Order: sequence, then structure tokens, then C-alpha cells
Amino acid sequence: MSRFQPTNACQRQAIDESRATLPADIVDYIQKVEGQPHPESQLISVLHKIQRHYGYLDRAHMDAVAHLLGVPAAKVSGVATFYHFFRLTPRGKYVISVCMGTACYVKGADKVLEKIREELGIDFGETTRDGLFSLEEARCLGTCGLAPVLMINDEVHAKVSPDKVPALLERYAAQP
Ligand code: FES
Repeated sequence: MSRFQPTNACQRQAIDESRATLPADIVDYIQKVEGQPHPESQLISVLHKIQRHYGYLDRAHMDAVAHLLGVPAAKVSGVATFYHFFRLTPRGKYVISVCMGTACYVKGADKVLEKIREELGIDFGETTRDGLFSLEEARCLGTCGLAPVLMINDEVHAKVSPDKVPALLERYAAQP
């Protein structure tokens, strides 16, 4: 029987709450794919859609998916935490993408990264407590001649050295 046809009041309430948690188009998508073969691949595509919509996955999103897709909540959170492309916290106002491609690496991207970690106290996939900065790894931003390169949101910063990092971060932090 479809998860969308609850058999009692309690189930009905849980399904209604889950539907209300997610955008209507994603609820419709789940309704189309639930019960199809290979539930794990359906689960991953549903989680991708939710992350595209909200920018990350939180507990309420994952519980709603578990209810509507009819898979255990532990399975949903297991998949979300296993794959590094799923984010479990909101991204910061400024997303720093540090290129760790070969050209940038040989020009010292690891030292730049180390300085950013030291300044912000976060690692890849994390966000500062004030919600200002998130740190992400990039693989070749297409500007190898300017290595080492990082991006902060849409802005490219070329030939970054560790000693330039504090002033760069301060500049963004000072923006209204
Ligand atoms: S390797 Fe960093 S921009 Fe290409």
C-alpha cells in the first residue's frame, strides 16, 4: 500500500506533517518514485532535490523523507552522512571554495587552506558559528595560471598566499 494512503489517524497525521515539511514538487516526486525498485537510488535523488531547494538537509527534512518514502529514518540519515556532497548544516553567508587541484596544490594551496582553518576554526564542510563563512573544497576552478586560487561566493581570488588570508577574511566580515 502507498505511504500516501495512511491506514489510521496517527499515520495520517505523520504523513500530513511530512508533506507540510517539504516543498509540494518534492512531495509529488516522492509520490511518483516511492515503491519503485532500488529505494536507495530514489532516496539519493530525493535528498539531492531537497538540498537544491534548501541548501542543506536537516533532521526534519530527513524524517519527512523517511515517512513519505517508507524507509527507516536511520537509513536516510546514514545515506546523508555517508556522501560528502550532502550538507547537514546551512551554508554561511560567504562560501570559501579553496581549489585543491594539482596546479593550486603545487603552488601552496595547502598552506592557504591551513591559514584559513587557523583563522576560522573550521574544516571543509563546516560553517563558522556566526554563520558568516563556510569552507568547501574545489577541484580546479579553471584558472590554473593564477594558482593558488580560491573563490568567495562568486569572486575569484588569485595568487593567494597565507599572509593575505586574514585581511581577505576581514574584508568580507566587515561587509554589511
Ligand atoms: S588547479 Fe586550481 S584553478 Fe586549476
